[in-house]
Amino acid sequence: MYKLIIRPILFWFDPEKVHYFTFSLIRTVSKIPGFTSIFKSLYEVNDKRLEREVFGLKFKNPVGLAAGFDKDAKLYKELSNFGFGFIEIGTLTPKGQEGNPKKRLFRLQEDSAIINRMGFNNGGVLEAVERLKKNSGVLIGGNIGKNKLTPNENATSDYEICFDALYDYVDYFVVNVSSPNTPNLRELQEKEPLTQLLNTLQTKNIQRYNTELVTLSEVEGRSAKPILLKIAPDLTNEQLLDIIDIVKTTKIAGVIATNTTISREGLQSVNKIEMGGLSGKPLTNRSTEVIRFLSEKSNKAFPIIGVGGIHSVQDAIEKLEAGASLIQLYTGFIYEGPALVKAINKAVLKKSL
Ligand SMILES: Cc1cc2nc3c(=O)[nH]c(=O)nc-3n(C[C@H](O)[C@H](O)[C@H](O)COP(=O)(O)O)c2cc1C
Repeated sequence: MYKLIIRPILFWFDPEKVHYFTFSLIRTVSKIPGFTSIFKSLYEVNDKRLEREVFGLKFKNPVGLAAGFDKDAKLYKELSNFGFGFIEIGTLTPKGQEGNPKKRLFRLQEDSAIINRMGFNNGGVLEAVERLKKNSGVLIGGNIGKNKLTPNENATSDYEICFDALYDYVDYFVVNVSSPNTPNLRELQEKEPLTQLLNTLQTKNIQRYNTELVTLSEVEGRSAKPILLKIAPDLTNEQLLDIIDIVKTTKIAGVIATNTTISREGLQSVNKIEMGGLSGKPLTNRSTEVIRFLSEKSNKAFPIIGVGGIHSVQDAIEKLEAGASLIQLYTGFIYEGPALVKAINKAVLKKSL
């Protein structure tokens, strides 16, 4: 039904307008009595065997919604009814910002892909906090970044502001230094600035958790709020080895692999000339390769959330088998529809993964 009827209609219109339209539609429909139960019965798979305990948190299933879809935490409750085990909000920045000029979101239909150069458009972290105060029961990841106008030298304080504001309202944090759409942001993935940034946040984490008793080693993946690092798929093997080192020295809880790519290899669609980050099918293999590399070279030392080009059950299984403990969807959710979430959960059950 989604791919045959709904998608062709939606794909007729401008992608960003469709995003906001779908948003309001889901919100409106969810308010009609009975519809929440209908969504749940259509898309949720409730089974104890799907539950996962990762970095000290209990996930009802391993399939999450990736960052960028519900940047402002406006729809996480309704979206969770589509069968997701967790929802990642953000990227949020301290101050609200418009993002890049429109048009900034492009479909590449022949490639089952999207290019976006949204540029962290969001209403600011404080507005999102107000919405999150109403949360009851959805497991939320808080993805944080820096404002466009904040120079990299001062980036740490932007991340700290977001961290502090969200601390009581999210279950885990994601430090996003891998978006290609904020100028120079990805330079923060270099070993020195990244170690400094993560150490600062971990120190804050310990202070927030317990000012006296907890040491850094006790924080590791368990006691305080799990902090994850989201990385780009364009890092070299050497840089990935650095990431493994950094995770170990800063004792953060894990890694999200991967964000969108700046590569344009093998694309067919005319929109391939657009600037921005590429997501969807063309990213599937590279992101799985990054997951496998991190998992093998670190000897499974930390959990990985696998994301990038999951458009089928097979794509999801490959990521889990490559070493991901959890997975996330974005572009696959747009192209394949919510039935994909259920199909993946059912396959995970069947394969006993
Ligand atoms: C329109 C759009 C906006 C995105 N915004 C963010 C963002 O704000 N923060 C972030 O960490 N990732 C963002 N992403 C990246 C996704 O979370 C995901 O890492 C990436 O798209 C790869 O997964 P996919 O192929 O399933 O889409 C965005 C992706 C898209 C398509």
